[in-house]
Amino acid sequence: MQKKRLLSGVKPTGRPHIGNYFGAIKQFVDLQDEYESFVFVADYHALTTAHSQQNPEEVRNSIKDVVRTYLAAGIDPNKTTLFQQSAVHEHTELAWIFECLTTMPYLMRAHAFKDAEAKNKEISVGTFNYPMLMAADILLYDPDVVPVGKDQQQHVEYARDTAEKFNNLYGDTFAVPEHIILEGVATVPGTDGQKMSKSYNNTIPLFGTKEEIGKAVMGIVTDSEGGRPENVYAIHKLFKSEGELEALYSEKEGSYKELKEALIEDIEASVAPMRERYESITDGEIKNVVAQGAVRAHEQAAAKMIDVRQKVGVTL
Ligand code: TYM
Repeated sequence: MQKKRLLSGVKPTGRPHIGNYFGAIKQFVDLQDEYESFVFVADYHALTTAHSQQNPEEVRNSIKDVVRTYLAAGIDPNKTTLFQQSAVHEHTELAWIFECLTTMPYLMRAHAFKDAEAKNKEISVGTFNYPMLMAADILLYDPDVVPVGKDQQQHVEYARDTAEKFNNLYGDTFAVPEHIILEGVATVPGTDGQKMSKSYNNTIPLFGTKEEIGKAVMGIVTDSEGGRPENVYAIHKLFKSEGELEALYSEKEGSYKELKEALIEDIEASVAPMRERYESITDGEIKNVVAQGAVRAHEQAAAKMIDVRQKVGVTL
C-alpha cells in the first residue's frame, strides 16, 4: 500500500526551542516511518524578518542550526527528504502564481499581518505574501498531512483554500491537506506563560547548554497563587507524566526553586543524548544531507510545475 505523505518546515530565525520541538519536530520524527515525509528549512521565509536581512551570516548559521536540530532530534535523511526551501526554485515560482489568484483583502485577514499592522511595523511585501509562499511549500508536494503547532493552523487553512481555488479554476491539480495539531502541545508556553516564541523572548533553547537551559528555567515567572507554580508545571508536563509530577509537586509544594531545579534535571535527561549528537554533526554532513534532499524534493516539485504551467497556459 502506498504511504500517505507528510510535509512540514521550520523557519531558520533564532535557535530552535522546546516549543518547536514538541509542537512540530517531534511529530516529524515520530511519523517518518508511517509517512513518506518531506521536511524542509523555510529559509526564504526567514528573509521576511528585518533582522535576517541584515545578517547573511546569521541566516546561514540558522539554516545549519535547523538542519542540525532535525538530525539530532532523530530525523533520518534516508527516510525523510530533508531540504532547503531555497534550493527548490519551484516554491517561489508557484508562490507567484498563487499571488495572482489571491486578493489583498483575503491576505489582510492573516493573523501575522494583523499583528504586524497593530504594532505599526513597516510591513514588507514578502511578509504580506508569506501565506502564499507557504501554500506553495505545501501544495507542491501533495501532502496528506502537515504537522504544525496551533500558531500555523491559519496558514495551513490558507493553503487549503488556495488549493481549492486553483482546482476550481483549472481542474483538479492539488491535494487539499489536513493539519496535524496535537492536543497538549498545540501551544507550548514560554517562561512567561504566553506562547513560547522567538519574538517574545521567552524561549528555552532546545540545545542550549545546561547553564543556558538552567538560566531560562530559573527565569520562569512564578506569580502563581497556590503552592503549584503553573508556568513551571506546564513546561514540566512535556518531560514527565502527570502521575510522576503529582507526587513531586505535592512533596515540594511552595518550593519553587527546588521544583525548577527538578525541571532542569528532567530537561537535561531528555535533551543531553540529542545534544551530544547535535554537537557531533559537521557542516559537511549538513551540506550532504540537504544536497541529497534537494534532488529528491526537486524531482517532485518539478513534475508538479510541469502540470501547473500547462494548466495556467504558459507552456506553448
Ligand atoms: P516556525 O519556524 O515559527 O515554527 C516551526 C514549528 O514549530 C511550531 N511552534 C510551536 N508549537 C507549539 N508551541 C509553540 N510555542 C510553538 N512555537 C512554534 C510551529 O507551529 C511550527 O509548526 N511558517 C512556518 C514555517 C513554514 C511551514 C511551511 C510549516 C514555512 N512553510 C509549510 C509547515 C508547512 C513557521 O514560521 O514556523
